[in-house]
Amino acid sequence: MIKKILQKEDPALHKVCHPVTNFDRKLAGLLEDLIATLKDAQGLGLAAPQIGILRRVCVVMDDDESYLELVNPEIVSQEGEQEGFEGCLSLAGRYGIVKRPMKVKVKAQDRHGNPVEYEREGITARCFCHEIEHLDGHMYYEKTDRLFTEEEVDELMRKAEEGE
Ligand code: NI
Repeated sequence: MIKKILQKEDPALHKVCHPVTNFDRKLAGLLEDLIATLKDAQGLGLAAPQIGILRRVCVVMDDDESYLELVNPEIVSQEGEQEGFEGCLSLAGRYGIVKRPMKVKVKAQDRHGNPVEYEREGITARCFCHEIEHLDGHMYYEKTDRLFTEEEVDELMRKAEEGE
């Protein structure tokens, strides 16, 4: 079911989420709601607290545009650095420049409780970091000096291209 995406003022986005211990039908339903809501919003990732559920669960669009389901995810290693614009469905229409590792390895569980491990770089690595932060009640704007509108981002991108 498509759920309402909470916006940054909502207290649910500023709390530490609880680990998942029951790999039941309810968890499967939560993952399905997250994917339906993410698809509808055309985003790259969505975390359970963004739909008001304080559990350590998130979904991330993979490089092949399939959706990775991450239950109790943890970043276990990281490499390199990237700096670029980042946005969030809970902070609509705003973007900030955030530094992230270029490559991360994430350990998590799937909907049945089986261990899974993903190593990704670039945008998917950025997305893993962003979504896992949501599970600890943090949002990307805490890491950035200022926020830009979509028009400002377009303008900056155009200038950067012209400058080449
Ligand atoms: Ni977000």
